[in-house]
Amino acid sequence: MDLVEAILSRKSIRAFKPDPVPRKVLEEILETAIRAPSSANTQPWEFFIVGGEKLQELKEALTNMALGAPRPDVPFVTQFPEPYGARRRNLGRKVLEMQGIDRKDKEKRRRWYVQMTKFFDAPHAILISIDRSFYHMNDFLNVWGVFSCGLVAMNVALLATSHGLGTCLEVAPVAYPDVIRQILEIPDSKLMVLAIAIGYPDWDNPVNQFRSEREPVNRITQWYGFK
Ligand SMILES: Cc1cc2nc3c(=O)[nH]c(=O)nc-3n(C[C@H](O)[C@H](O)[C@H](O)COP(=O)(O)O)c2cc1C
Repeated sequence: MDLVEAILSRKSIRAFKPDPVPRKVLEEILETAIRAPSSANTQPWEFFIVGGEKLQELKEALTNMALGAPRPDVPFVTQFPEPYGARRRNLGRKVLEMQGIDRKDKEKRRRWYVQMTKFFDAPHAILISIDRSFYHMNDFLNVWGVFSCGLVAMNVALLATSHGLGTCLEVAPVAYPDVIRQILEIPDSKLMVLAIAIGYPDWDNPVNQFRSEREPVNRITQWYGFK
């Protein structure tokens, strides 16, 4: 698959087939993904890949936590000034609509949130972590380390697409990093930045028919020195 095709066909997948992905495929994806650039080649990312019974255990623990107060390692955004608020509302409305969930149906929305927290029942979850020593600096948070983790995450998503896999980059599960660390026996020094739900897409599920919108380039770009 060529790069443009991978970029254009990648989208967030929010329903998966249960079939596991061979470890070799996941290894191949990671081997290539780590060619991502990072600030000063610090390569701040570390991966925790979960499947099988361990994932089941993690999903149960996260289900019990879901909707409890989030305690993420990397703070969540809680304010969405315009135009970001409108884009977010539009996304939320459409993702619910695709599944026939009425915005006023609190129970169905709750269940959807739980689904999100447990990696949309994907057969695998990839957790991307950064060491506390490279995030909590003396007087600031190292956003560039997290930014670099984002670049490797993008590579994972594109490479997964080229293998016929679907992904959803997610912060919802990392709202409860203590639970993740406890179940996977990860030391407190490893901060949870992002989760990636990964597996074979369930194309029969209407949620996967959804294609998110983009602002056109001409509205967000200024050109200088061009005729
Ligand atoms: C940092 C980050 C966090 C995200 N967290 C979530 C999440 O918790 N739940 C979710 O359903 N999607 C999540 N997404 C997916 C975005 O909603 C999605 O990328 C966006 O709507 C654009 O749609 P597309 O990926 O289908 O192109 C996240 C994406 C990023 C980059």
